[in-house]
Amino acid sequence: MNNLIGQPLDRIDGRVKVTGRAVYAYEHDVPNAVYAVMVTSSIANGRIASIETHEAERARSVLLVMTHQNSPKLPAVQDQSETSPPGRAVQVLQDDRVYYPNQPIGLVVAETFVDAVAAAQLVQVQYQARPPQVDLESRLSQGYTPKKSGGGGAPSTSKRGDVEAGLKEADQRIEQVYWTPFQVHNPMEPHATIAVWDTAQHLTIYDATQGIFGARGRVASVFALPPSNVRVISPYLGGGFGSKGPTWSHVILAAMAAKQVNRPVKLAVTRPQMFGPVGLRSQTRQAIAIGAKSDGTITALRNDTASHTSMFGEFVEAATLPTRMLYQSSNNSTSQVIVRSNIGQSSYMRAPGEATGTFALEVAMDEMAYALKMDPVAFRLKNYAETDPDENKPWSSKSLRECYRQAGERFGWSRRPLEARSMREGNTLIGWGMATSVYPTRRSESHASARLNADGTFSVDAGSQDLGTGTYTIMTQIAAESFGVSPRQVRFRLGDTILPETPVSGGSQTAASTGSAVQLASQALREKLIQMAITDAQSPMSGASAQDVALEGGRLYRRSDPAKGETFQQLISRSGQAYVEGTADSKPGSEKESYSMYAFGAQFAEVRVDADLGEVSVSRMVGCFAAGKILNAKTARSQFMGGMIWGISMALYEEAAVDKRLGRWVNNNLAEYHVPVNADIGQIEALWVDEVDHHINPIGAKGIGEIGITGASAAVANAVFHATGKRVRDLPVTLDKLII
Ligand code: MOS
Repeated sequence: MNNLIGQPLDRIDGRVKVTGRAVYAYEHDVPNAVYAVMVTSSIANGRIASIETHEAERARSVLLVMTHQNSPKLPAVQDQSETSPPGRAVQVLQDDRVYYPNQPIGLVVAETFVDAVAAAQLVQVQYQARPPQVDLESRLSQGYTPKKSGGGGAPSTSKRGDVEAGLKEADQRIEQVYWTPFQVHNPMEPHATIAVWDTAQHLTIYDATQGIFGARGRVASVFALPPSNVRVISPYLGGGFGSKGPTWSHVILAAMAAKQVNRPVKLAVTRPQMFGPVGLRSQTRQAIAIGAKSDGTITALRNDTASHTSMFGEFVEAATLPTRMLYQSSNNSTSQVIVRSNIGQSSYMRAPGEATGTFALEVAMDEMAYALKMDPVAFRLKNYAETDPDENKPWSSKSLRECYRQAGERFGWSRRPLEARSMREGNTLIGWGMATSVYPTRRSESHASARLNADGTFSVDAGSQDLGTGTYTIMTQIAAESFGVSPRQVRFRLGDTILPETPVSGGSQTAASTGSAVQLASQALREKLIQMAITDAQSPMSGASAQDVALEGGRLYRRSDPAKGETFQQLISRSGQAYVEGTADSKPGSEKESYSMYAFGAQFAEVRVDADLGEVSVSRMVGCFAAGKILNAKTARSQFMGGMIWGISMALYEEAAVDKRLGRWVNNNLAEYHVPVNADIGQIEALWVDEVDHHINPIGAKGIGEIGITGASAAVANAVFHATGKRVRDLPVTLDKLII
């Protein structure tokens, strides 16, 4: 064993990415391919009265203009309507209904991309528009309580003790409403698909997806094919953040068109079209109540959340979870209501529920700390949950105290004055704020295989995906450590449904799920190789005990006599086998019944606010996280930092604005939908606690993709209050909210 796990190994895929050789979904060189462009709706609610395609059909090199009038009807998606059962609906030109802005209503296919774009402009649509239903505040009473909350499928309401009684006995009460806006995923690489019908019954899809097996299943069911007749390939992704978890309309549309024109079809979702048919984070309204005794003991906690779902599917932005479990509170209640709106399907976005839920809860906690005249960290420690108060179970591990301590020390928190608006440099108000981070630890069934090849190299396979997170790199490290070889001797493959089946790369579960499978497969192969060595009469390890055989430095040898050894190539070549293989079928056991499993963290932010203009910048931020075993110090730091930076973005910049009269996105472009650029981001430091957790999964990893964004926006908003004395409860914290 060479202790590779945890090392800050450079990205395995770094070189091909920076040299432009990494092939992303749209770039696969598929012979004879043609180009599809979606036509999307300019209204949010109503019907298509007429759609005129003749001009588009006659335009240069156009092969097909597909609308609901001439599209093939797909029985599996035919029955969608406002009353259809909840599910991940797609809009694939089956009828004339329009449910949201930028809904796909047509598809133009041409020999070139330019021709397809030009022809798409020529499609003329007349609508019977109805008033869009997009406002949450005025439509709360139209909401309903879903059966399940999002995420792990917990119930959508919860109750322990008596919140009203708890509020009565409190010395201080905070009851406020907090808002987070719509946010739209904007990964560097928008969605893209190439659909190739290899035969009338076999389809290959090159797709930008977080879940190749989910995409395979969805496409297979829509076209009534067995899953084995669909192959999904996705070796590289330019980010996903949850948007590429579900399989959306464009994937099905590309496959429909490819069948019609009998050519491979390439379809790229444009940046403006990202605001529509490919998911978004719902706006939330969170009504929070906290009661506390003057010594800081919480006597009541409540979060009633409302969010949007589409007219055809159900998604719950489960913002209530942190309120249930993050602090000791014997009187606690939460509820979720969702309101059907003429907005595209709300869906998973990095820490769906936890990112929004920790904003409201952690700002409310900050408000209570001021009311109690207590330090915000001390207030949280006073109510530290030693066991999970929601599920009434022990934590598998929890190092949150250590996170507060390490991040606080690094930040210099002990020098913070309690009073708001008490730090100033000239015309700049300075504020320090903090918040707690939390994200559940998930794991799903995953498979992997590991082979020693005749040339002495190792091939390790698992379907899986690398969103840019470092999957290639950590899996290579895990395998190379098991075999005692250099990472260069391991070839790890992912992103193809011909490889062993793995779960979606969502819910921060890839390291825990597929990392565990890769480790178990590698260990299985390792044990096979040891058995081969000790039972092979010609091996220098013949007759040794299994414990006496070491795999290290690219060879196997006797620990008791290291000179007696050989290379992997020597061992396999005598066997006459083309390869030796170990496999793993790894799935969660009963650990979830006994333990509550979460990653935790603490974030501290410093903001600088122009006293006259209200302009805010985050000059420094320190986060410390406890997320089990960290598999690669370099890619992990990037994950934490990426989350923290998105938290800053959520706090100060991002809002997808919908025009309430027209139901149209106002800022569906990266000029007006603000995301931070490098110059917006000050000093970011991500630390972590080395945490050993024997309960969660074989590899001991809790997952780190999402926790970094949780609590981050609250830390920034709390710092803004500390700087200015002005409490902003609706994100983003823009200057107009500070100077008015
Ligand atoms: Mo994530 S939002 O579970 O891809």
